[in-house]
Amino acid sequence: MLVIAHRGASGTQPENTLVSFRKAIELGAEMIELDDHLCKTGELVVIHDYSVNRTTNGNGFVSHKTLNELQSLDAGNGEKIPTLHEIFELVSGKAKINIELKGKHVATETATLIMAAIQEKKWKAEDFVISSFHHRQLSEFHALIPDVPIGILYKRHPNGYQKLAHKLNASSINLSINHVNANLVEEIHQNGLQVWIYTVNSEEEFEKVKAMSVDAIFTNFPERFIS
Ligand code: G3P
Ligand code: MG
Repeated sequence: MLVIAHRGASGTQPENTLVSFRKAIELGAEMIELDDHLCKTGELVVIHDYSVNRTTNGNGFVSHKTLNELQSLDAGNGEKIPTLHEIFELVSGKAKINIELKGKHVATETATLIMAAIQEKKWKAEDFVISSFHHRQLSEFHALIPDVPIGILYKRHPNGYQKLAHKLNASSINLSINHVNANLVEEIHQNGLQVWIYTVNSEEEFEKVKAMSVDAIFTNFPERFIS
């Protein structure tokens, strides 16, 4: 089972920061997950929420702040909010990256950055996975770079996933641990798709989803499950 470091090694490090992703790679994570947003000056930044309030010492919306303003904030233990480009430089082939399109209108800019990484660096399309709860953004992204694998995120039951998965040539259906059961996993597998589960942090949760033969888990504690 693939163990994906959710927001990095975010159970022990400040989430979505360089130190969190560096730790995840040191722990042997084959894939990291991050969330991206556009800031006021047009750069893609890596942060989960629409506002900086929860994860930094600042206040206000990410989209209302310049990159300089965002990077002057403390995102925990003196860490800065990283740009997506900074994460590419850090990871540099040592792991795959699952980019969750979190903010509004991030699909085009994310595709542009990935395209540059593929053309100018040694990245390959399959070094990335793009996922989102915003299914329209997945369609926009897929139209720009069809080779990059897609994971369709659902908060609850994945109604109508077959049609969308076909349209996006998706590789996985990404479900909450609270809305998965063995029958659903089997059905999704029969449709030729993988099942990835967020967020699995305890041994009990791990055993539950392992028994369902899911293909990957997102965890804040990769050290607990990477063997
Ligand atoms: O992609 C899995 C997971 O990250 C989705 O939820 O809120 O943690 O971004 P969230
Ligand atoms: Mg996420």
